[in-house]
This record gives sequence, structure tokens and C-alpha cells, in this order.
Amino acid sequence: MGLLEILPGTHDLAATAQAMMQAGKGILAMDESNPTCNRRFGKLGIPQTVDARRGWRELILMTPGLGEFISSAILYDETIRQAATDGTPFLALLAKAGILPGIKVDAGAKELAGHPGEKVTEGLDRLRERLAEYRQMGARFAKWRAVITMGKDIPSRGCLEANAHGLARYAALCQEAGIVPIVEPEVLMDGDHTLEQCAEVTEAALRMVFDQLYEQRVFLEGMILKPNMVLSGADCPVQADADKVADATVNVLLRAVPAAVPGVAFLSGGQSAELASLRLNAMNVRWRGKAPWALTFSFSRAIQQPAMEVWRGDASQVGAAQKVLYHRAMCNGMARRGEYQPDMRNA
Ligand code: 13P
Repeated sequence: MGLLEILPGTHDLAATAQAMMQAGKGILAMDESNPTCNRRFGKLGIPQTVDARRGWRELILMTPGLGEFISSAILYDETIRQAATDGTPFLALLAKAGILPGIKVDAGAKELAGHPGEKVTEGLDRLRERLAEYRQMGARFAKWRAVITMGKDIPSRGCLEANAHGLARYAALCQEAGIVPIVEPEVLMDGDHTLEQCAEVTEAALRMVFDQLYEQRVFLEGMILKPNMVLSGADCPVQADADKVADATVNVLLRAVPAAVPGVAFLSGGQSAELASLRLNAMNVRWRGKAPWALTFSFSRAIQQPAMEVWRGDASQVGAAQKVLYHRAMCNGMARRGEYQPDMRNA
């Protein structure tokens, strides 16, 4: 028996997941924790303050036309409670743009005891109460990220199992609260592994995740999967081209992800903004009509980074940065349709 049978409101969960996956749009990840956001600011000489973080998120949310390509945005606890300079709550800005609000609820990846070099994501304690508060604030979906590192003799089965179990417990709690869970097992691109090795590990990780989702009675029609693309490791001397990445990624998903899942929204994971768009586009061109789920984006860096490099904390650059952000959102909206053209690369 799945949650479909035991929970009221599964229809709403499925409808929300479908709305997140609407044609030509994707999910904007803007849920960087304060340490992650500060680290990115630090590299560009931007002050690492609450006000700078608020200013950056305001710039994003006030980008004209963002809702044309973005169905939903993932916020962080600090951000969901903030307001624009004129006092408009960020949640009201999102509503005005027709963008669904979501919230990151994991407490970060920590060292996994007994497993040197591997991590497990924390955050289940008091999650039921936190989800109820976020739902009451208006959050319609949530995100939990698990991190799988590739290297000599890793990932271990213990690491894959612990992370899959955490994701499934989180997903069931979300659905109990009327919130669509984004289930994010990220196999990192760091390392010198080949495309084939990444495919093998990604398939193992996804199989474990879906076993655990089944055990925890998660309603697959009311969730979104956020995986890594299957890539050659960042230090691998042979880098697979976009078509190879597209085929390797979709073939792994076909083996491990049930067709009941409405959508797959990829993380960018440190790829350049252009490569992320090209690879997503290749999937939607080559697998048009053949994949059972929507294939879209849930990028943070591959949407935000080029715009942040223009802004650099300078108020006079807000308009220019918003143009770049809009452009990247548009490129990915086109890639979601399989209509991205390389000459769209430059704003
Ligand atoms: P990147 O697209 O920068 O990998 O971020 C996606 C995300 O939300 C990570 O949890």
C-alpha cells in the first residue's frame, strides 16, 4: 500500500508536481545555505552579510519575465522569511510572478561515521514540525540533497543506503504535510572517473533510492527527482560530448526510475552554464517522445553564476545582472523543449 491509499490530498501532490514540470519551464534553485552563499560571494568580493544575501535574492526575484521560464523556486530558511527593499515579502513577489515557492529542509551533508571520505545528510529531527510551519507559510514543495562522492573504493553500500533511507524518510514526511518532495541524490562530478563509471554509480544510487522510497510508501506521482547528469569526472582526460552525456543519463534513468515519477529536474553540479543547457537540450532532442518523465532543470550555479559575476554587489549593475539571469533562464527553458540553439549563448 502506498500513500495514495493512506493519505488524503495525494491528488493535490500530483497536481503540484505537474505544475512544477509544466512545459518550457524548470526550477530555480536559490536555496544556498548561508555558508555556501557566503563562499560564492567571497570569491567575487561581495560582502558576506544578511543584507547582501537579501539584496541578491531580491535581484533574482524582481527579474522581469522570470516566470516565463521558471515554474518554481527553492528558497532557504533565511530567504523565505525576507522581504524586498519596498517591504514586499519575497513570497508575495513569487506569487506575483506565478512561481511556486519551495524550501530546502535538509541540514547539510556531514561526515558519515566509519566511512572516511563519505557523507550523510542530516535533518530528520523535528522535520515534521518544520514542514508544518513551512506549509503554513505557503511552501508547496521541499528539497533534500544527499551527496555521493566517487573515489577509490567509494561509494560504499553503507553510504548509499544511509542516504537513500534519509531521502525516503524525508519524502514521506513531506507528503504527510502536503508538500511535494524533491528527492536529490547527487553523485559529485569531482574526480577522474569515466562517464561509464559515473553511470554505474548513478544507477546504483538511484536503485537504492527508489527501493527506499517504496519501503517508506512514498507516492511517486507526487514527487520530483533531482539527480546529477551522468558526466565524465571533472579531472577525467576524456570528456564525453553532449550527445553521449544525454544518452548515458537517460539510459540510466530508464533503468532505475519508475515511469510513475512525473519529472526529473537536473542539478548543474558545477558544470558551466552553457554546457548544462547544451546537455539538457541534447536529452530533450534525442529522447523526445521516448522518455516517460519530463526532463528539465533545477539549476543554481548554472543560472545564477553568470549574473552574480555581473552584479558583484554593485547596485548600479542590478539591471545588467537581471538581463543575464533572464537570458540563462530562457536558454534553459528552451533546452527543456529541445529548442536551445548555440547562438542563444550570448545575451
Ligand atoms: P547546482 O545547480 O549549483 O548544482 O545546485 C543545485 C542544487 O540545488 C544543489 O542542491
